[in-house]
Amino acid sequence: MTANQIRQAFFDYFEKKDHKIVSSAPIVLKDDPTLMFTNAGMNQFKDLFLGYKVPDNRRIANSQKCLRVSGKHNDLEEVGRDSYHHTMFEMLGNWSVGDYFKKEAIAWAWELLTKVYKLDPSRIYATVFEGDHNDGLGKDDEAATIWEQYLPADRILFCNKKDNFWEMGETGPCGPCSELHFDMRSDADRAKLSGRELVNKDSPEVIEIWNLVFMQFNRMADGTLQSLPENHIDTGMGFERLCMAIQGKKSNYDTDIFTPFIELIEKTSGVKYTGKYDGSSMSDIAMRIAADHVRAVSFAIADGELPGNTGAGYVIRRILRRAVRYNYTYLNQEEPMLFKLVNLLADKFKSAFPELQAQRGFVEKVIKEEEKSFLKTLNGGLKRLDNVTVVDSTISGDDAFELYDTYGFPIDLTRLISEEKGLKVDEEGFNKALQAQKDRGRKDAKRETGDWNVVHPGREVDFVGYDQLRVSDAKILSYRAIKQKDEVVYQIVLNKTPFYAEGGGQVGDQGTLVVGADVIKVIDTKKENDLIVHFTTRLPEELDGKVEAEVDEEKRRYTENNHSATHLLHSALNRVLGSHVQQKGSLVREANLRFDFAHFQKMTDEEISDVERMVNEKIRENIKLDENRSIPIKDAKDAGATMLFGEKYGDYVRMITFDPEYSRELCGGCHVNATGEIGLFRIVSEGAVAAGVRRIEAVTSIKAEDFINDKINELNEIKSLFKSTQNTVRQVSELQDENKILQKEIERLIADTALGIKDDLIKNAIEVNGIKVVKTILKDLDSKNAKTLAYNILGELGSGLVYFGLESGDKPQLMIAITEDLVNDKGLHAGNMVKSLASHIRGGGGGQPFFATAGGSDNSGLSKALEGLNVLLG
Ligand code: SER
Repeated sequence: MTANQIRQAFFDYFEKKDHKIVSSAPIVLKDDPTLMFTNAGMNQFKDLFLGYKVPDNRRIANSQKCLRVSGKHNDLEEVGRDSYHHTMFEMLGNWSVGDYFKKEAIAWAWELLTKVYKLDPSRIYATVFEGDHNDGLGKDDEAATIWEQYLPADRILFCNKKDNFWEMGETGPCGPCSELHFDMRSDADRAKLSGRELVNKDSPEVIEIWNLVFMQFNRMADGTLQSLPENHIDTGMGFERLCMAIQGKKSNYDTDIFTPFIELIEKTSGVKYTGKYDGSSMSDIAMRIAADHVRAVSFAIADGELPGNTGAGYVIRRILRRAVRYNYTYLNQEEPMLFKLVNLLADKFKSAFPELQAQRGFVEKVIKEEEKSFLKTLNGGLKRLDNVTVVDSTISGDDAFELYDTYGFPIDLTRLISEEKGLKVDEEGFNKALQAQKDRGRKDAKRETGDWNVVHPGREVDFVGYDQLRVSDAKILSYRAIKQKDEVVYQIVLNKTPFYAEGGGQVGDQGTLVVGADVIKVIDTKKENDLIVHFTTRLPEELDGKVEAEVDEEKRRYTENNHSATHLLHSALNRVLGSHVQQKGSLVREANLRFDFAHFQKMTDEEISDVERMVNEKIRENIKLDENRSIPIKDAKDAGATMLFGEKYGDYVRMITFDPEYSRELCGGCHVNATGEIGLFRIVSEGAVAAGVRRIEAVTSIKAEDFINDKINELNEIKSLFKSTQNTVRQVSELQDENKILQKEIERLIADTALGIKDDLIKNAIEVNGIKVVKTILKDLDSKNAKTLAYNILGELGSGLVYFGLESGDKPQLMIAITEDLVNDKGLHAGNMVKSLASHIRGGGGGQPFFATAGGSDNSGLSKALEGLNVLLG
């Protein structure tokens, strides 16, 4: 079976068991503050497990793009060295939300593996949870008994919390699990040692392929477990490992998921892949790293996460840099090469994850530029690393920090290179230096998030903010405190609210919550999963009273103007620049809007004014908002609505249209009733934000008026400086011409003056040891004119030496020019002379035997410096 067939067979099997097959959530998470990347298939169903939402189908299955490179689950160091860890991997999963439980989950897993995929049942082991005293949990005898129907008792193992209790993160849904392990060893090896001995022992040949989690608890912030309202099933099967087992390979990299990439890397680098895992072939490791890392980086970029210096963007940058460094050192790639794999990747995944195919050119460009810029600093960094001081075989934390800060070397890269040299890195010292830098920049490092306190039970939040900006009868469902440094911020959830939570680029609403006479300011509103969370600096005294919630109307209206203008702008860009203009980010707020989009060159002035004109035309047409609040996603797609990559869309979506022929987007944000309300649109700036990404900043309505008025006022001020009503542009241009002429005139006058003093200087020439010497201190003569003067004097002297001290501001200079005969016959050397004389003016310098200068900082030493010459000639 090919990899694509294996994936399809999984979907087919669970579809027959009444599961709904859904698409993968984006690999980069937006609405979950506890996670940066999707690290398990169940992430997108967290709310279902916590009982906050009920799905329309309680049985679900999919293949999820996952990344385990940060936080609780982090495999980065292993990747490339072994045969079965990856940065990005696919997780096949089936879920029961309060529907079937252990019996079915186990029976179906067994049937699929042994009957559909035809894996040898005698090679399969199951592990079950042995219980945990601290958590007050007993053995999972129930799961073990079910397994006994399929497996002999000696292939069922009880294991500890580390291996058999699955948790999503520090907090969140969790539960005991049962893993399926597969023994891929030869029969001879199996006869020698039972696979049982190798389960959970990091053997590359006896590996976990499927994890069945019996979700029963929620881990709270204080570490305790709370029972979930219902029991659920959450399974996750490593797709790449499954393919290895089914295709009878010894490594994931030998399956058809990776072999085409390894071949392409061989072709590009001219290095042969030998498939070794004992660490003896670094080029093999480099090839596996390239084949693996390009997947993580490409899909993250396609889902909207650009490499950057903080958060998720930095994780992506680190992965990419790890690959670049391996390519450079072990595959001799001094030019970008990872980007050359993107095309193949897009092609291989076009049916499973089409988002890459659709943005291929863009992803290639971003990766190539990122590779290029890191290759530039890599060289310098590697040299620096060669020269760092090593004490006790350890590189100091400060050096590691310098490499990080100046050369962009992530600590794992420094660690890795050091290990190859048999050295250690003082990571504690590095972390200290890093922390010190962070503390300097930002004082909010640590946050403590409390658990939710329930005031009124319930999780259903009614958002009414599209239609009204005030409700008078809301109640508080729950609240919690967040401590950051010395500040406490409260988060409040209401059952009903007009406050829009930050999302889709639009900022969260501000406003007030009024409980009785208590007026509390809402400073921000954000989403956490599906909850709308109001941020306040204090809690109402009466928590269970009636809440009047009112949005700051002025802020909201201006924000709406900017949001609708963003849609009009998006469409105008598509029309003026082309359909490749994909939205790459946006910020919509009261003051202005920001729109990032994929486009490869700077927009011309003409393009900018075409876009501006088109948007203003649409504003004047006063097009009515056509809002479809809940339309099946398929219908929206058929209607040609613009969808964004990296967004998680449900089955039903909200569609915003301003003229079906002009702008139609899927959007959850707030908009004007008709475009005329926007009033006016002006682009304030256009520039680059990253490789292949441009940014437009624009203003609307009164802010656009202000913008234009400011420009007019500036112009009027300039006009009034001219005290005339003539054409200002012509006047400025005349002024510039006049200025140029005057500048030339000044230069000529200075040169004339210099020549004027020439004769006097020659007259005052002295002789030292038979050498004609002209020396003097000159004020305010620049070095260019001084040099001309010196050579003119030498020309007239025929043979001699000119020595100037140039006094200018607080930067004095010495200058010596000598004729050729003296250099040759007497061995004079201007460079050496200024070097020794420069100390008088607290400076240094040097140069040729015929001509040299020195700069200093002490004008008062000039006469001493001039006197010093005689000694040198004596
Ligand atoms: N959540 C579990 C895991 O990631 C099963 O899907 O292993």
